[in-house]
Amino acid sequence: MKTSELVPSLSKSELALFERLDPKRLPRHVAVIMDGNGRWAQRRHLPRVEGHRRGVAAARETIETCARLGIGALTLYAFSAENWRRPKAEVDFLMRLLREYLRRELPVIHKNNIRLSVIGRAEELPRAVREDIERGMKLTAANSGMRLVVALNYGARTELVDAFNAVLEETRAGASNGELAGLRVTEQMISDHLYTAGLPDPDLLIRTSGEQRVSNFLLWQIAYAEIHVTDVLWPDFNRARLLEALLDFQGRERRYGGIEPASSN
Ligand code: FPP
Repeated sequence: MKTSELVPSLSKSELALFERLDPKRLPRHVAVIMDGNGRWAQRRHLPRVEGHRRGVAAARETIETCARLGIGALTLYAFSAENWRRPKAEVDFLMRLLREYLRRELPVIHKNNIRLSVIGRAEELPRAVREDIERGMKLTAANSGMRLVVALNYGARTELVDAFNAVLEETRAGASNGELAGLRVTEQMISDHLYTAGLPDPDLLIRTSGEQRVSNFLLWQIAYAEIHVTDVLWPDFNRARLLEALLDFQGRERRYGGIEPASSN
């Protein structure tokens, strides 16, 4: 996807936002906590699932815009490990919606050179969902454009536990007992064993619907991320709201604990 394809489709107000963006200082990785589907529906006296349905449309718009802007990676928090506590009918609906989305959008994703991956304990998802995900990841594995990462049955503490165990397992397999006794874990070893290994850390975390929390999302990876919280509910998060979040990001001074602003993002 190209920016040149984005511009003609922008409304006047979107264009005004777009023109203020510095294309050289876009985040490399945007992560999104898509919150507020339920409240969006409630305010309209609609069933919660209608909010989720509209949430999918918002996700589609964000995916398309990020890809066209040339953002390297987009991670969407679609289903947390805690979301199993919701009523079974809502969980089933979310799973169905995800399958529907994958079936409908996969050809578009592939055509646009986007590479799909999933983070989280996918093995605990219903088999049909797993199969659709696997098909999508396989089809798009060689694509070189934007990385679209969907967090499903994801929890950051679980991810860290899985990473530590993977480090231990790998070391146990390759080291003698003496070496194990002196083993020191490094930051790099942990990063390399996270579900997101190989991806740059998000430099922008967006959360919709106003809550000032990170909700067990990418705890390790967002160490230096700029956080943009908007009161907008996820189904209303459109292209203009995304451009505003990117402008907010570009207005921040990123120092990574130093004194001078960092020269790169
Ligand atoms: C939060 O709303 C949203 C979710 C639980 C995630 C579901 C996300 C979608 C349906 C978007 C689709 C994404 C993809 C990748 C196709 P909530 O129910 O927590 O809202 P509330 O806090 O107002 O109750």
